[in-house]
Amino acid sequence: MQKRTARLHAYLARHRGGLAWGVACVLIANAIVVAQPQVLRFAVDDLYQGVTAQKLGRYALTLFGVALLGGIFKYFMRQVVIGISRRIEYDLRNDLFEHLQRLPASYYQDTRIGEIMARATNDMSAVRMMMGPGIMYFVNTVAVGVASIVLMFAISPRVTFYTLLPLPLVSFSVWFFGERIHRRFESIQAHFARIAAHVQENLSGLRVVRAFALERVQHADFLRLNREYLDRNVALIRTSGAFYPALSFLSGVAALLALFLGGREVIKDRISLGEFVAFTWYLGMLNWPVVALGWVISLWQRGLASWGRIDEILSADASIRTAPNARKPEGRASGEIVIRNLTFTYPGAREPALSNLSLDVPAGSTLAIVGRTGSGKSSLIQLLPRVFDAPRGTVFLDGIDVLDLDLQWLRAQIAYVPQETFLFSATLAENVAFGVDHATAAEIERVGAIAHLSPDVERFPKRWETRVGERGITLSGGQKQRTAIARALLRDSPVLLLDDCLSSVDTHTEHEILHGLEGEMRKRTALIVSHRVSAVRDADEIVVLDHGAVVERGTHDALLTRGGRYAELQRVEQLEEEIEAS
Ligand SMILES: Nc1ncnc2c1ncn2[C@@H]1O[C@H](COP(=O)(O)OP(=O)(O)O)[C@@H](O)[C@H]1O
Ligand SMILES: [Mg+2]
Repeated sequence: MQKRTARLHAYLARHRGGLAWGVACVLIANAIVVAQPQVLRFAVDDLYQGVTAQKLGRYALTLFGVALLGGIFKYFMRQVVIGISRRIEYDLRNDLFEHLQRLPASYYQDTRIGEIMARATNDMSAVRMMMGPGIMYFVNTVAVGVASIVLMFAISPRVTFYTLLPLPLVSFSVWFFGERIHRRFESIQAHFARIAAHVQENLSGLRVVRAFALERVQHADFLRLNREYLDRNVALIRTSGAFYPALSFLSGVAALLALFLGGREVIKDRISLGEFVAFTWYLGMLNWPVVALGWVISLWQRGLASWGRIDEILSADASIRTAPNARKPEGRASGEIVIRNLTFTYPGAREPALSNLSLDVPAGSTLAIVGRTGSGKSSLIQLLPRVFDAPRGTVFLDGIDVLDLDLQWLRAQIAYVPQETFLFSATLAENVAFGVDHATAAEIERVGAIAHLSPDVERFPKRWETRVGERGITLSGGQKQRTAIARALLRDSPVLLLDDCLSSVDTHTEHEILHGLEGEMRKRTALIVSHRVSAVRDADEIVVLDHGAVVERGTHDALLTRGGRYAELQRVEQLEEEIEAS
C-alpha cells in the first residue's frame, strides 16, 4: 500500500502550495461558520434583557456579515481545492496515456482494451473525487467536528457529555457500513470494467458477430452482465440506504437529549438561554460532519481502490525502451541487417518461435522470407523495430545490436508494414502521411501510384480527402494493405519491412505493385515476407522458414533447381493458379 500511494503523493506534492492555500481556506471558512452561534448567543442574551430595534438591526447585520464572509471563503475553498483535483486528474490522464503508448505489445496481449478504458474513465473520476472533495470535506469535517465539540464543552461539559453518548455508536455504524459499502463498490467497479470490455469487443468485431448471426447470443451475454451490474448496485443501495437513516436516528436521539438536558440546565439557571441556543446550533452543526465523515471515508476507500487499479497500469513495465547507454548514430542508417544465432521465445510461450536463425542482409539488398503460416516469418520481422525484444547479441542494424540503439532513432530507420494493417478514422491522405510532417499532395500521389492505390482513389467521392474507418467509407482488405504500403513508402526510411502485405490483392495486382516497388527497393534494404513464391522471385536472396528455422536459402533459380521445399511451394501455387484460371 505504501509503495502504491507513493506515486500519488508525488502528484499531490506538485500542487503543494495550492493545496496549502486550499486547506487554509477550508479552515478559515469553518472558523467563520463556527463563530455564527457565538454571535447568536450574545444576541439572544442581550435581547433577553430588552429588545430594541437598534439592537435587532445590529445583530442581524453582524450575522449577515459573518455569513457573507463565510460564504466567500467557502467559494475560495471549492475553487482552489476542486481546481487542484482537476489539475491532478489532467496530469494523471496525460501520464496514463503516455505510459499506455509505451507499453509493449505483450502487455496488450494480456489486457483487454475495454478494461483499460474503464480504468481511465470510472476509476480516474473516483481518484479525482478523493483528491478534491475527499480532501476538502475531510478537513472540513474534522475542523467543524472538533470546534463544535470544544465550544459545546465550554458551554456545558455535562450536557455535552450526555448528548455525545451516542457518538461511539455513530463511529461504529460508520465503520460497519463503510466496510461493506467499500467491498460492494469494489465489486461494482470491477464488474463495470468487464462490461466495458465486452461492449468494446463486440463493437470492434461487429461484422463477425453479424456474419455468424450471434447478435442474440451476444445480447444474452450482455443482458447477463448488465443484470449482474444491476444486482450488485442494488446490493450496494441496500447497505448504503440503511446507513443514512441509521445516522439520522442517532443524531435525532442526540438532539432529544440536548433539548431535554439543556432545557433543564436553563431552568436551573446553570446556563443562559443564549448558550442553550448556541449549544443546539453546534449540535446541529455536528450532524453534518458525522454524516459527511461516512461519505468522506467511502470517497477515500473508493479513491484508493481505483487508484490501485490505475497504479497497476502505471506500474506495468514499459520493458521495451531505450537502454541507458544507447547509441544514436548521426544521420541515416546504411541499412545492413545481421541476425546471429537467433532463438526467440514469446513471453509465456513454451516453445521458441524462432530457433538458431542466422541471416546477412547487405545494405540495399532485398531478402525474401517465405514459409507456411506459423513458420515464424512475422515473428522474425517484428524483432527489428523491437515490437518484441530478441535476446542480446542476436539482431544488428549497421553492426549495432538493436537493443543498444536509441529506440526512436531505430524505429525512424524502419518503415514497417505489419501483417494486420490498421487505418485511423481520418482521411486517406492523413492515413498515408501518418508519422510524416508536412507531406505534400504530390508526395502522397507519388507513393499512392507506386502502391497502386491511386486508381482506386480516383473512384472515391473526395479522392484523397475521403474519410476512412469508423466514420467514413470502409476499404477492402487489399485497399487497406495498399494504403499501408503507401504509408511506409512515404516515410522514406533506409529499411523497408513488408509482412505479407499483399496477401489480400490478386496475383496480377501484386505483380504490378512489386514491379513499381522495384525502384524503391533498390534504394533500401528490404525484407519481404510472403506466403506466395510469385511475390519473391526477384529478391537477391530467398530464405524458406519452417518451424522457426531456415530450411533452404538461395536465389529463385537456385532454389528451383534444388527441388526442395521452395520448388514444392512453387508447384502448389501454379496448380492453384491453373485451377483458378480454368
Ligand atoms: N504474440 C505472440 N505470442 C505468442 N506466440 C505467438 C505470438 N505471435 C505468434 N506466435 C506463435 O509463433 C509462431 C510463429 O508465428 P508467426 O511468426 O506469426 O508465423 P507466420 O508469420 O510465419 O505465419 C506460431 O506458432 C504462433 O502461434
Ligand atoms: Mg505472419
